[in-house]
Amino acid sequence: MARVVIIGGAGHVGTYLVPRLVEAGHEVVNVSRGVARPYRAHAAWGRVRQVVLDRGAEEAAGRFGAAIAALSPEVVIDMICFTPASNAELADALTGKVQHLVSIGTIWVHGALTSVPAREEDARAPFGDYGTWKSQIEDDLLARARRGDLPATVIRPGHIVGPGWAPLNPAGHFNPAVFAEIKAGRTLSLPNFGLETVHHVHADDVAQAVMGAIRHWGAAVGEAFNAVSPAALTLKGYAEAMYRHWGHEPALRFLPFEEWAKVVAPEDAQATWEHIARSPCHSIDKARRLIGYQPRYTSLEAVQEAVAVLPGLQG
Ligand SMILES: NC(=O)c1ccc[n+]([C@@H]2O[C@H](COP(=O)([O-])OP(=O)(O)OC[C@H]3O[C@@H](n4cnc5c(N)ncnc54)[C@H](OP(=O)(O)O)[C@@H]3O)[C@@H](O)[C@H]2O)c1
Repeated sequence: MARVVIIGGAGHVGTYLVPRLVEAGHEVVNVSRGVARPYRAHAAWGRVRQVVLDRGAEEAAGRFGAAIAALSPEVVIDMICFTPASNAELADALTGKVQHLVSIGTIWVHGALTSVPAREEDARAPFGDYGTWKSQIEDDLLARARRGDLPATVIRPGHIVGPGWAPLNPAGHFNPAVFAEIKAGRTLSLPNFGLETVHHVHADDVAQAVMGAIRHWGAAVGEAFNAVSPAALTLKGYAEAMYRHWGHEPALRFLPFEEWAKVVAPEDAQATWEHIARSPCHSIDKARRLIGYQPRYTSLEAVQEAVAVLPGLQG
């Protein structure tokens, strides 16, 4: 069993991953600012050492990577890396010192897709800082691994879902009012034909993918893996399923995106654009084959578990 340092372990994924690590017998150190609390209580947290560090502040002082290396980890799980510079600082400090670095990327490294479901090895054309930088981080880590410098793996989650926060909704944004409208049986407007896609994943399934990467070290080093549910949803199919979930016949209307954007809040329209411009739909064949990934949740099961405890939607 290993000493595992998780950077940012008290969030969506860490809520599930940290108990899994402890239960597997690992010695776990969580590095965070000490503000966030896991979404679910679990006795395993009593056996986790907490180290309070602010990554941004430590990086600005040029000592974050060294601080992580000083914890003598065998495995490092980096939940919160968003820029190539941040990644390089950590990767340089860990070179020659760890058995495994598992970095959390995103399916947005792909940008818009050419064929679906998209595989990890398909050509990528990311756009926007977030996806572009995550793509650069992934390339850098996998190159370091293939050169034999740093044994790294990248796990790419879809839209992470779980009880305690609002899932990406059938209109492609995060405003939970959409679920309330559907639950009340009121008509929902969707952009275009509603055939653009979203690809959720339960936070516990992301945690499972990380555990699989650690367990199947030999197959995982130097590789990226999509961590999504078994199938993406169209906005229309997702909305219809949610109406039926709450006992209604679907009541949908469709508007060209530009018109639709005028009937919702600007920030919601922007969030939807970000999601449907990419319309993720990703394959999990590689993760199934190489790291034993078997997602427990379909997209709808994950969403329905989460909305069941959203304020105003319980019961
Ligand atoms: N959310 C999604 O749908 C989605 C989709 C694809 C990929 N991802 C990727 O998933 C990762 C995020 O995972 P998550 O959603 O589980 O994380 P999260 O819920 O945002 O949790 C973030 C964790 O990091 C800690 N943290 C935040 N800022 C910090 C800082 N400056 N220094 C030290 N610790 C800090 C937080 O604790 P404190 O506040 O106490 O510091 C918390 O433990 C990212 O790499 C993201 O790109 C997310």
